[in-house]
Amino acid sequence: MLLNFSDNLDNYKLMRQAIIPRPIGWIVTEDENTNIAPFSYFMALTSTPPTMIVSIGQKSNGEPKDTLANIRKTKKCTICIPKESQLEKMHFSAKELAHSISEAETFDIELNKKIENFPDMVHGAPVAFFCELKQELDIEGSLHKPIIVEIRHMYIDDTCFTNKEKLYFEFDPIARIGGDYSFLGTKIPAPKMH
Ligand SMILES: Cc1cc2nc3c(=O)[nH]c(=O)nc-3n(C[C@H](O)[C@H](O)[C@H](O)COP(=O)(O)O)c2cc1C
Repeated sequence: MLLNFSDNLDNYKLMRQAIIPRPIGWIVTEDENTNIAPFSYFMALTSTPPTMIVSIGQKSNGEPKDTLANIRKTKKCTICIPKESQLEKMHFSAKELAHSISEAETFDIELNKKIENFPDMVHGAPVAFFCELKQELDIEGSLHKPIIVEIRHMYIDDTCFTNKEKLYFEFDPIARIGGDYSFLGTKIPAPKMH
C-alpha cells in the first residue's frame, strides 16, 4: 500500500504507529501552580548546544496547552524522563484540566525542588533536564507549536549509575508505541564497525 499525504488521511494515526518507539518527556512548568503533562512528539535535537524539541498542540477549546502557555511566560521547564513504575501517573497527567488546577495535586504526583529558579522535578524520575526556552517554531498549516529548549542542568538519580566516575547510567524507560506503551527491556550492543 502506498499512501499519498495530499489525500485526506489521518496523519496522526499513521505517523504514531510507525515512528516508534517515541520517548516521553514528562514536562513540569509553573505559573500560579505547578503543571505536569507528558509529550511524545519529543526528541533530542543537538548536543552542542544541548537542545531538545517538543511539539505542543492546542487544548480542545483552541487555547494553547498549559505547558506551552507556562513556558512562554516563564521561559523555563523541567523535562523528566519517567520510569516504568510511573507509567500510570504519567498517563493520567495527560488529562485536560483547567489552567488553575494542578495535575500534581489532582493525581497525587510528588515533586522535588532540585534547582532554584527552575520548576520542580517529579519525585522518583530517574532523569530530569532543567531547560530554558530557546526558540518557538511556526510550522505553516499546523496548530502545533514546536519549541526548542536548551538544557541548563541535568539530574541523574544515584541508583542509575553503572559507573559514576565515567557518567555511565541506565534506567527502565517507557516508550510510546502508537497510543500504547512499551518497556524497552532488552539491550542489544551495537555491532562493531570495521
Ligand atoms: C504519552 C503521551 C504523549 C503525549 N504527547 C503529546 C505531544 O507530543 N504533544 C501534545 O500536544 N500533546 C501530547 N499529549 C497530550 C497532552 O499530554 C495533553 O494534551 C495534556 O492535557 C496537556 O496538558 P497541559 O494543558 O497541562 O499542557 C500526550 C499524551 C500522552 C499520554
